[in-house]
Amino acid sequence: MAKRIIREASRTLMEYRLLPGLTTPETSLDRISLKTPLVCPEEGQRPINLNIPLVSAAMQSVSGTQMAIELATLGGVAFIFCSQTIEEQAAMVAKVKRYRAGFVTPRTIAPDLFIRDLESLRKMTGYSTFPVVDDDNVMLGLIKRNDYDPVRHADLPVRERMIPLASLETGIDIDDLNRAHELLVETHQPVLPILGPDNTLKHLVFRKDIRTHLDNPLQVMDDQHRLTCVAAVNTHDYKQRVEALVEAEIDALAIDSSDGYSTFQADALRWIRKRYPHIPLIGGNIITGDGFRYLVEAGAQAVKIGMGGGSICITQEQKGTGRGLATTVEAVAEARDLYFKETGRYIPLIADGGIGTAKDATVALALGADVIMMGRYFARMEESPTEKVTLNNRVMKPYWGEGSARARFWKNIRYHQTQFVEGVEGLVEYAGKLRDNLPQTLAKIKSSMSSCGVPDIASLHRDVELELISGLSIREGKVHDIHMPGNDGQYTERSWGE
Ligand code: IMP
Repeated sequence: MAKRIIREASRTLMEYRLLPGLTTPETSLDRISLKTPLVCPEEGQRPINLNIPLVSAAMQSVSGTQMAIELATLGGVAFIFCSQTIEEQAAMVAKVKRYRAGFVTPRTIAPDLFIRDLESLRKMTGYSTFPVVDDDNVMLGLIKRNDYDPVRHADLPVRERMIPLASLETGIDIDDLNRAHELLVETHQPVLPILGPDNTLKHLVFRKDIRTHLDNPLQVMDDQHRLTCVAAVNTHDYKQRVEALVEAEIDALAIDSSDGYSTFQADALRWIRKRYPHIPLIGGNIITGDGFRYLVEAGAQAVKIGMGGGSICITQEQKGTGRGLATTVEAVAEARDLYFKETGRYIPLIADGGIGTAKDATVALALGADVIMMGRYFARMEESPTEKVTLNNRVMKPYWGEGSARARFWKNIRYHQTQFVEGVEGLVEYAGKLRDNLPQTLAKIKSSMSSCGVPDIASLHRDVELELISGLSIREGKVHDIHMPGNDGQYTERSWGE
């Protein structure tokens, strides 16, 4: 006989509805905040807060460089997949971190560097503007691509071609982008050096980047004003992988496992925590309160939850393990709240697998999740790393599970050898650019929160009431008893189906 048999069926998110609360001016759409913590920071770590509660799944067909840049620009964050070589993954992270988000911590050069070496550095890094500094990081000047001729000046030191500091307009100790923007406009310069005490160089601000930043106030940035990025690592090669990702200046690491309640994951968490205490760690996936406590005690500062619900997932069919996501969130949130009472540490939960609509996302948040991870939703966007295909006049994008045969043989590299697959591959309808889709999803989440009378996610956790809904009610909630046109223009009746 099994140790325990739970007779109450586990529930999916779509079986719940939110009950409206009192809507007030404080909960009007423009006042609602979707800000949420990604991790519980350890001492000495910087908190990472998202401005929207959405993250993209660590999957080959979802989270590449373009997705990571666009999603962080729009307020969320991508989890860069680890089913690729260490070098490729680290290069993706480095590219996201180098992407300019307003203030730039630039690559500096010494005044005695030869122009020929500067030219090599320019080609290697792709940068065309270099601040020139002395050994104490005091700014001496600035050199741009059009300040020298790579052939005629090849043997000259940089100091002879740079624009000296005295001829440059600079900003002193500015950390407000609006002020930096005003100064750029006033000085007519394309780039503004920001200096600290004694003319030490702090940042550069480029006119072309600042506009992007001002147009995207929700950008999620690190303390050097670079976009935030999370990378997945596995429990096999993490010792080598983590080093390369830290070198690429990753913001947080997530241990990627479909079943994270394991000593392998605890070992990985402890090993990384000991060697890289400044890097926040995310554990998962688990679906029970016991699994939650186990990972948190091993060092997880956020926990990814969900098993068997992903749109491409066949884990439940293959192994018989899993749980409805609503029940998972409820059970783990209870364990999380108890842990918070005992320790004062609030561990964010990332609900993962099977969420593709704003309503399911809001229900997961209301049940206790802090962040929503999605694969299929993001795979449909222009920024996912796959090519569009056309099938029967419909534009589609390929989407495949990390446990599918396709993922295992992707780019001819074989990962995670097991004897059976846990995922499938297929196509999803192309949706267009992320920034054209996200506003509607967020507006729906905010609108539900407004109806429920809550101004933020913490209040959603605390104050909202949910109700289980019958199968018949779900049908009632869909279009019924009306004749509607199909793709062929023919009208057919959408009845209750009786
Ligand atoms: P979706 O948002 O419903 O498409 O689910 C995405 C989630 O499915 C990911 O974040 C993973 O947790 C999970 N997943 C990814 N690949 C596989 C797989 O091959 N088998 C089972 N689950 C997977």
